[in-house]
Amino acid sequence: MDFNKLKDFDISGKTILLRADLNVPKYNNKVTDTTRIDRLRPTIEYLNKHGAKILILSHYGRPEGEENPEMSLAFLASILEKQWSIPVKFSPQCIGNIAKDITAQANNGEVTLLENVRFHKGEKANDEQFAKKLASLGDIYVNDAFSASHRAHASTARITQYLPSAAGLLMEEELNALNKALETPEKPLLAVTGGSKIATKLGVLENLIEKVDFLVLGGGMANTFLYAKGISMGKSLYEKNMKKTALCIMEKAKEVGCEIILPKDVIVVSDLKQDAEHERVNVNNIPDNKMAIDIGNQTISYICKKIEESKTIVWNGPLGVFEIKPFDSGTNQVANAVAKHTKSGNCISIAGGGDTVAALENSRSIDSFSYISTAGGAFLEWLEGKDLPGVIPLIKR
Ligand code: 3PG
Repeated sequence: MDFNKLKDFDISGKTILLRADLNVPKYNNKVTDTTRIDRLRPTIEYLNKHGAKILILSHYGRPEGEENPEMSLAFLASILEKQWSIPVKFSPQCIGNIAKDITAQANNGEVTLLENVRFHKGEKANDEQFAKKLASLGDIYVNDAFSASHRAHASTARITQYLPSAAGLLMEEELNALNKALETPEKPLLAVTGGSKIATKLGVLENLIEKVDFLVLGGGMANTFLYAKGISMGKSLYEKNMKKTALCIMEKAKEVGCEIILPKDVIVVSDLKQDAEHERVNVNNIPDNKMAIDIGNQTISYICKKIEESKTIVWNGPLGVFEIKPFDSGTNQVANAVAKHTKSGNCISIAGGGDTVAALENSRSIDSFSYISTAGGAFLEWLEGKDLPGVIPLIKR
């Protein structure tokens, strides 16, 4: 995939409208995870060094077209300034005269953060007039918000009709890493997919079986597949109504030569609580009054063997109830195996999605993965093979 890049433009003295995703977690007005801010830094430094005026567009939360002080971006200006060591001004409007005046007063190299674009109904409606108003503030549009690019909104999609548009450095990094993993992967390709429901990941599963050699399933999703195979799941979480779907996916996988790897043994408990009394059983022996909440050693060993055979690994979703210890053990051991295989230079490994990053952070192996996407929902839609409305306009034609 070839796309227009920031580096293709002469940006000196130009005003750059940079779509960022500053939808960062906060507590008491403090950012609890600065990953998205840190990952934007190279683009900010590049624009600053090349003498561009930088206007940042972002959403925060889901204010549904209403001004909501709780979702104002104002608190972030001083935090960005500190993280990036560059002066950052704040404009309490993202369109109109106030935004225009503040922009006009800014010097080349300076950053102005505009108020939450989702305070306007036109943002979510992908509205032409709102997009034109945003576009009128700048000379070039740069999208560095891969994580918001699954939204067909005015500041991610429509705006590209009114300004020359390019991918920022972070977007470029995301697209290159993700394409390398699913579009042009070195084989064998293994995907790890966990999570509670097939219903929310149906598109992902259908797309992955077409592309990967090994598909490791964990969590409630794996329980549904085991149930579909006729295994009695006791009190485990599974979706009875997805039996047919699971059988269809297994049939299709067989046809296209994708090996679906399901748990052979599981950890079962009577109550889902920290340090609950637990035992490891073969999946054929799950007691009626117990639930499966993690994978067992036999399963872990088999997955690790497949990891060692693989050259590319894509990870989305935990393999068990990783939030409750010690039932993070399966996820941790598999994550550590991926990290080790990556560190020894034998594969590239890519992970993304909200829960996934938390699970991998918990396993302490996240730093050894080749690439961690900043995206949650957008990563999932990419795994589904969908065209992302914020990415399509950046592709060179
Ligand atoms: C995210 O945090 O995943 C992105 O900022 C997208 O947010 P949204 O789901 O509210 O569009």
